Amino acid sequence: MRRPARYRASARFYDLISAEWPVYRAGRVAAIELLALKPGENVLDIGCGTGLNFSHIQQRIGPTGSITAIDASAQMLDQARRRTRSAGWNNVRFVEADGTSLDPADLGGGGTFDAALSTYVLSLMPNWPRALATMIDVTRPGGRVAVVDMQKPVGPAAVWTPLARLACLMGGSDINAHPWRMIDSSLTDVRAASARGGHIQVRVGSVDGTSRHGTDP
Ligand SMILES: C[S@@+](CC[C@H](N)C(=O)[O-])C[C@H]1O[C@@H](n2cnc3c(N)ncnc32)[C@H](O)[C@@H]1O
Repeated sequence: MRRPARYRASARFYDLISAEWPVYRAGRVAAIELLALKPGENVLDIGCGTGLNFSHIQQRIGPTGSITAIDASAQMLDQARRRTRSAGWNNVRFVEADGTSLDPADLGGGGTFDAALSTYVLSLMPNWPRALATMIDVTRPGGRVAVVDMQKPVGPAAVWTPLARLACLMGGSDINAHPWRMIDSSLTDVRAASARGGHIQVRVGSVDGTSRHGTDP
């Protein structure tokens, strides 16, 4: 399995150094709002990191719902477990795995989840289309899939491009990957949002019977 080394060393400090409040929180808040999660829903979070999405998801799904949290870094998962324990959530399942080589059968099979999301992760993966295809395949028809990722800021905010490039470089992201385009082309009822001068891109689409990619190995 590919283990992202930079998320091994920085896991304990990730929440402090990730510019969550001034910059990146806006993307996860917008995505989880657009996912319109309901009480009792089962949610897949690919590349969950330290679990910064969890509280936003938990507020909507409640104790009868569940989160399946996947990450390739054991150290990031440890931080996510710590967050989960201290919040008293009993509905989070953790899986240490590479998002680009998941076997849908290990996650419960096709159509298992009501919703799936990946925030600031896909642009780190050379084979992100495979990870996103799996997210779509394991989401039920009528379920929703969300991608939050980064690009160069646009318009007047383009002056911030060197800073955006630096943030992506430090995190290991390809600023030109634009993985949300696969949501635009593969899903229906696509809703979009952006933040921070277009640097943060959010897409949420609905899965229908024609969305499947057949990622079962
Ligand atoms: C920038 S952090 C984002 C974490 C979280 N999603 C968030 O919004 O704060 C990227 C995360 O993706 C994970 N990651 C990178 N490549 C991965 C892969 N191939 N499979 C699963 N997780 C991966 C890293 O370990 C890290 O926890």
